[in-house]
Amino acid sequence: MTPTETETIAPHGGKLVDLLVPHDQAGGVIAEAGHLPKVAVGTRELSDLEMMAVGALSPLTGFMGEKDYRSVLDEMHLENGLPWTIPVTLSLDETEAKRVGGTSQLALTADDTPIAIVGVTEVYRRDPETEAESVFRTTDTAHPGVKAAMRDAGEFLVAGEVRVIRLPKHTTFQQYRLTPAQTRAAFAERGWKTVVGFQTRNPVHRAHEYLQKCAMEIVDGLLLHPLVGATKDDDVPAEVRMQCYEVLFENYYPKDRAMMSVFPAAMRYAGPKEAIWHAIARKNYGCTHFIVGRDHAGVGSYYGTYDAQKIFEEFDAAELGITPLFFEHSFFCKKCDAMASPKTCPHSDDDRVILSGTKVREMLRAGQKPPKEFSRPEVAQILIEAMADRTR
Ligand code: ADX
Ligand code: MG
Repeated sequence: MTPTETETIAPHGGKLVDLLVPHDQAGGVIAEAGHLPKVAVGTRELSDLEMMAVGALSPLTGFMGEKDYRSVLDEMHLENGLPWTIPVTLSLDETEAKRVGGTSQLALTADDTPIAIVGVTEVYRRDPETEAESVFRTTDTAHPGVKAAMRDAGEFLVAGEVRVIRLPKHTTFQQYRLTPAQTRAAFAERGWKTVVGFQTRNPVHRAHEYLQKCAMEIVDGLLLHPLVGATKDDDVPAEVRMQCYEVLFENYYPKDRAMMSVFPAAMRYAGPKEAIWHAIARKNYGCTHFIVGRDHAGVGSYYGTYDAQKIFEEFDAAELGITPLFFEHSFFCKKCDAMASPKTCPHSDDDRVILSGTKVREMLRAGQKPPKEFSRPEVAQILIEAMADRTR
């Protein structure tokens, strides 16, 4: 599929999905929902619902049926042949499954009010073992993604097209909550034909900034696209991260070449599988390029440092559409007196400013700024203050 003239790149499957019920019909749909069996959706499923509603998960128009579920887990493709690596499902526990048994429509609720209607096509059994092995490459419940999936997860999955009454209510980052249609419009307005997307669940440190700026040398613009859905408890909260991104943008990024918007997804920590999923979603937001660095979406030592890059070899470039930009482990090298990676720096680890996440957390907790070669001082300051607030 070729993009139209104002489009950077076509959405996955060719067409941007929009599941929101038009304003003038919302009243009727809410009344309809009042008569249906209700299921409360958890935080993570709510994130998926929001992403689906705005087309971030195009071509999905609803929660997956068993054929797609199996095909995604076994073949990394939807039944229709499009690449897809993480199931998007709605789970029910046994009591819920009994309660909705046989219904053709289901109302989903958030904060006790109906938010969407699912036209139920199927209720089937989940396969948690196969799912964990496929998505996370482990069934270890110490893995935060496996843990979250198992905790939220009922034994049954309900499939069907979704009509969304309203988006989940948010009280934060309002000006950054752009839909794929809106980021696409923003790119067009700026005249960007090529845009690199950057996924992050961390504050942007010098290494992240380096990758972004290397990429910016070869494309028209950067979309800094921090994930703001659920993360694990010891990740830096989104509110704090957003302050870091803002201060960096203010001081170190060219305004006409970089923009920021938030990604409502929940974090899976699924490494390689999530890298593909992240890339596809960013294509829907209009990005032509996507950065994949070291241990993308990884956690602990579950994945090899470059597994999330290698998985791209298993797909045709054309079926993914979006171009991945791979970066090796980057750092500041004191001998080079510059940011570098093993591809550009001949020196040894002793010359390189490399700090583990644990070490950085320790320093911040002690009120110590990480070296300026690791974090911009403005960012370090925000992180120290946030740590102090948390332990106060
Ligand atoms: S995550 O989604 O991958 O967990 P994170 O914020 O940790 O988010 O990383 C964002 C992106 O930067 C990922 O593509 C990751 O691979 C890359 N990255 C992070 N740190 C480095 C580094 N020091 N060198 C190279 N790539 C990195
Ligand atoms: Mg990481």
